[in-house]
Amino acid sequence: MICVALAVFAYMFQIVVTGIHERTFIAIKPDGVQRRLVGEIIHRFEQKGFKLVGMKIMQASEDLLKAHYFELRDQPFYNRLVKYMSSGPLVTMVWQGLNVVKTARAMLGETNPADSAPGTIRGDLCVEVSRNVIHGSDSVESAIHEISLWFRPDELVCWNDCADDWIYE
Ligand code: RTP
Ligand code: MG
Repeated sequence: MICVALAVFAYMFQIVVTGIHERTFIAIKPDGVQRRLVGEIIHRFEQKGFKLVGMKIMQASEDLLKAHYFELRDQPFYNRLVKYMSSGPLVTMVWQGLNVVKTARAMLGETNPADSAPGTIRGDLCVEVSRNVIHGSDSVESAIHEISLWFRPDELVCWNDCADDWIYE
């Protein structure tokens, strides 16, 4: 427990000192995978300048999804949400970069695609809130929690990005 607290503290410290190490958890939902939107979505994050540090395709268990969406457990759509998210493979990813949590949420658009502006992922690629193709962490704290829930530390790759000098001053 103390080790986990220290690791979280060290990571938070790193984020505060050098914001370019901020990370977020992104999942392409089963509808996004089935509709062959994986390449399009990765392309948008790469084009923006963010760095991919973890990725896998997986069928999530209901237990994992219930832990992931724990805060929504009292919502009327919760059971349908868990069923939808476990209905097929997900592509889960960790993206890194300056303000990546907030910027990724802006790139996703609103929860309901009908409220999402054109140019956003949900605004361009989907129609209904219950089939909104992508998840993104909603805060730095959520991102740290979600990354630890979905990825083991050895599944994340720290690599030197030769484009960094052209993306950051
Ligand atoms: P996410 O966690 O998936 O990135 O979505 P979000 O933050 O934009 O929205 P959140 O409130 O966390 O809701 C999680 C997911 O639940 C489904 N949902 N269905 N009224 C409904 O039927 C309803 N509301 C939300 C969506 O799939 C939403 O992304
Ligand atoms: Mg959410």
